[in-house]
Amino acid sequence: MDPIKASSSLRILLVEDNEYDRQAFRRAFQKSPVSSDITECVRGEEALKIIRTHAPSFDVVVVDYALPGMSGLDLCKGLLHEKTSLPLVILTGRGSEELAVQALKAGVDDYMVKDPGRIYLDLLPVVLPGAVRKHGDRLARKRAEEALRKAHDELEQRVEKRTAKLARTTEKLMLELTERKRVEESLRLSEERFRSVAQTASDAIITVDSRGKILFWNHAAVNMFGYSADEAMGKPLTLLMPERFRKDHDDALKRAVSTGRSIMIGSTVEKVGLKKNNIDFPVELSLARWKTREGIFFTGIVRDVTDRKRAEEAIRHLSQQLIRATEEERKKLARDLHDELGQALTALHFSMEAMHDSLPEELKAQKASCDELIGQVEKLGDTIRDLSSELRPDMLDDLGLVPTLEWYIKDFVKRIGGLQIDFQTIGVKKRPEAEIEIVLYRFLQEALNNIARHAKAKHVSVLLTYSHPKLIFTIKDDGVGFDQTEPMVPSGAKRQPIGLLGMRERVVSVGGSIDIRSSGGKGTVIRAELPIALREAGT
Ligand SMILES: Nc1ncnc2c1ncn2[C@@H]1O[C@H](COP(=O)(O)OP(=O)(O)OP(=O)(O)O)[C@@H](O)[C@H]1O
Ligand SMILES: [Mg+2]
Repeated sequence: MDPIKASSSLRILLVEDNEYDRQAFRRAFQKSPVSSDITECVRGEEALKIIRTHAPSFDVVVVDYALPGMSGLDLCKGLLHEKTSLPLVILTGRGSEELAVQALKAGVDDYMVKDPGRIYLDLLPVVLPGAVRKHGDRLARKRAEEALRKAHDELEQRVEKRTAKLARTTEKLMLELTERKRVEESLRLSEERFRSVAQTASDAIITVDSRGKILFWNHAAVNMFGYSADEAMGKPLTLLMPERFRKDHDDALKRAVSTGRSIMIGSTVEKVGLKKNNIDFPVELSLARWKTREGIFFTGIVRDVTDRKRAEEAIRHLSQQLIRATEEERKKLARDLHDELGQALTALHFSMEAMHDSLPEELKAQKASCDELIGQVEKLGDTIRDLSSELRPDMLDDLGLVPTLEWYIKDFVKRIGGLQIDFQTIGVKKRPEAEIEIVLYRFLQEALNNIARHAKAKHVSVLLTYSHPKLIFTIKDDGVGFDQTEPMVPSGAKRQPIGLLGMRERVVSVGGSIDIRSSGGKGTVIRAELPIALREAGT
C-alpha cells in the first residue's frame, strides 16, 4: 500500500482495522460529491510512522478507537504530543461517548459514533471537511494568538528597553544638571569673591566694555572720583579724565579693541584723573584686557598718587635746597680761601721778598733759605687757587658754562695724562640759568673723575646739545664699563659712594632725568636731560 497519493481532494489517512468498516468508509465518499483521497492503514504504530515522515500529504486523520495494539486514543495522544498538527477525528463504538469526551479533552478535533444504522457514514463527507476547517481555524487562531503574544512580548520588551533608555537619559540629564549647577555655583562664588575683593580694595577697580562704558565700579572708585555706583555705571570712561585727554583716549581704546594691542596693557602708567567736583589729580593706572563670548573688556586698577607726588615734590624741593646751600657754602669757602688765605699768602710773599732783599749779601745761606720759602709760599698760593677753583670756578659766573667746561676739560687732560677728550656743543647759543650751569659743571666734574678713577679709558667724548626745550648732556667713554646690576657699594667698602647718586640728585632737583648705560667691557654713556629756559648770552 502506497501511503502517499498525490491528490487535490480531501486527503484522508484512515486508521481502521476492520476491513468491512474501511470499505463502508470508502463507499460513503464515493457516493458523496466530496472528492477524497483515502490512505488506509490498520495499526496505530503504522499510522504513527507514516505521519512522522509524510504529515504534509494528509488533510485529516480518521482513527478508529478500537485498534489492535496501540489504541486509537493513544495514537491521537501520541500525534498531539508530537505536534503533527493534523486534524484528528476519532471513531468510537456506540456507548463509548465517555471515551469521545476524553479524546476531545486530549485535543482531538472531532469524534463520530459508529451507530448501528450507519448514519455516521453519510455524515462523514460533511463532518470531515468541517473538522479540517475547524482545525484550520483553530490553528490560525492559535497562530494569530501566538503572533499577538509575540507582538505583545516584543512590545513589552521594547517598552522595557525604551523605559530603560529613558531612565538612562534622565539620569544623564540629572547628572548634567547637577554638574551645570556646580559650575554655576563655583562661578557665582568666584564672582562673589572677585566682588568682595574688588570692593574692599583700596585702589579703584573699574571695568569697561569695548565701547568704554563703565560696567563695574567699586567702593574705592566712589571715594576716589566722587561718583556713586549708580551715577558711574553705563557712563563713558572719559568722564573720569580731563577734557584734553578724551579724544586720545577714545582713539587708543578703538585701537586696543581692534588690534588687541596697547602699550598701556599689562604695564603701569601715570595719568591724570578728574573728580566729580572737576579737580584734576595724578593717578597710576594698571590695565588688563580680557575677552569672553560677550566681547572684549578692560579692567583698570587706579591708584591716587597725589600724596606720593606731593612727597616726591617735597623731597625734590628739599634736595634742591640742600644743593643750593652746598653750592653757597662752597662758593663762600672758595671766596674765603681765595680772598683771606690768598691775600694773606700774597702779603707773606711780599714780606719775604722784602726780607730777602734786606738781607746783607754775605748771609748767603739765609738768602737761599728765604728763596726756598718764597717758592713754597708760591706753591701754596697755586694750591689754594686750584682748590678754590675746584670748589667753585669764578669762570662759571664770569664767562659762562661752555668756556668753563672747555677750561675744565683742558685742565683735566693736563692733570691726567694719556686721556683724550673731545668736547662739542650743538645749538647752545644762550646761557642756561645759573642753577642749571652749576648742575652741568658738577656733572662733568664727577663723570670725568669717575672715568679717571675707574674706567681705564683712552677716549672720552663730551657733547652738549640744546634741543628745545631740553638741554642734553652726554659723556661717553671707551673704558671698562661696569655692571649696573651689581650693588654700588661692594661688601667691605669703607664708605658709601655718592658720585653717581649726587649726579642724579642734582639733575632731578632741576626737573631733569638721567640715564646711565654701561656694561662690562663696553664703556659707559651717561646722559642727562634738563628742561630749561635759556638766558641771553652774557646775561
Ligand atoms: N665711567 C665709568 N667707568 C667704569 N666704572 C664706573 C664709571 N663711572 C662709575 N663707575 C663705577 O660706578 C661706581 C659708582 O660710582 P660713584 O661715582 O657713585 O662712586 P665712586 O666714584 O666709587 O665714589 P665717589 O664718587 O663717591 O667718590 C664706581 O665705584 C665704579 O665702579
Ligand atoms: Mg665717583
